[in-house]
Amino acid sequence: MRILEKCFVANREWAARELEEDPDFFKHLAAVHRPEMLWIGCSDARLPPNEIIGLRSGELFVHRNVANVVVHSDLNCLSVLQYAIEVLEVKHVIVCGHYGCGGIATALDRKPHGLIDNWLRHVRDVRMSHEDELDAIEDPRERGNRLAELNVKAQVANVCHTTIVQDAWNRGQSLAVHGWIFALGDGLLRDLGLCVESPEQIPPPYQMD
Ligand code: CO
Repeated sequence: MRILEKCFVANREWAARELEEDPDFFKHLAAVHRPEMLWIGCSDARLPPNEIIGLRSGELFVHRNVANVVVHSDLNCLSVLQYAIEVLEVKHVIVCGHYGCGGIATALDRKPHGLIDNWLRHVRDVRMSHEDELDAIEDPRERGNRLAELNVKAQVANVCHTTIVQDAWNRGQSLAVHGWIFALGDGLLRDLGLCVESPEQIPPPYQMD
C-alpha cells in the first residue's frame, strides 16, 4: 500500500478505536479545546510531542520549527503563544530541544546551507554567546548536544521576554515556562531545571511593568 493510502487506513482505525473507548470522544473533541500546555519543539520527525509525553488529542497545543527557536519578530510563533496564553490560558509552556538536532549541528558548521542559515542565525548567536564553553568540548556530537541545551535555555528566556508572557504575569495569570531536552538515544526527556514563573526571574532590562 502506498504511504498516503496508509494514512487514511490508519486514520479510520484510530477513529474507530477512540469511538470504541468512548462513544462521545469526537463530540467532546469538537466542542472543547482546553489544553493545559503549549509545546514549542523541533520539527524533527522523531519527536512526536503527544506520543512521547503520553497525551491524547486535545491535551497539547503545539508549535514546531527547526531547532525550536523563539524569535520576538516571528509572527507565527508569537501568534501561537498569544492564543495559548490569552485564549486557552495554558498553565505551562514547554520549550523542548533534543540531542542530535540537525539544526543545531548546522549552526555549528561553516558550510553554507542556503535560506535556513538565516533562521539558524538565532542558534549561531546562542553559540557565539557561549563560544568558550563550546570550543572547550572536543567531541563534535557532545558540543552539539551542549549547544542544544544552551539553545533551549535561550529560547525559554525569549519566551519569557515576550510582551505576551509578561502581560500574563502582570495580570496575575499563573504561567510557568520550562526547558526540556529529549534524547533520541533512549527516548527520555530531561528537565533542564529552567522553570521561570515570575517576572523577577528575568533580567531587569527585559522586565516590563
Ligand atoms: Co532538531
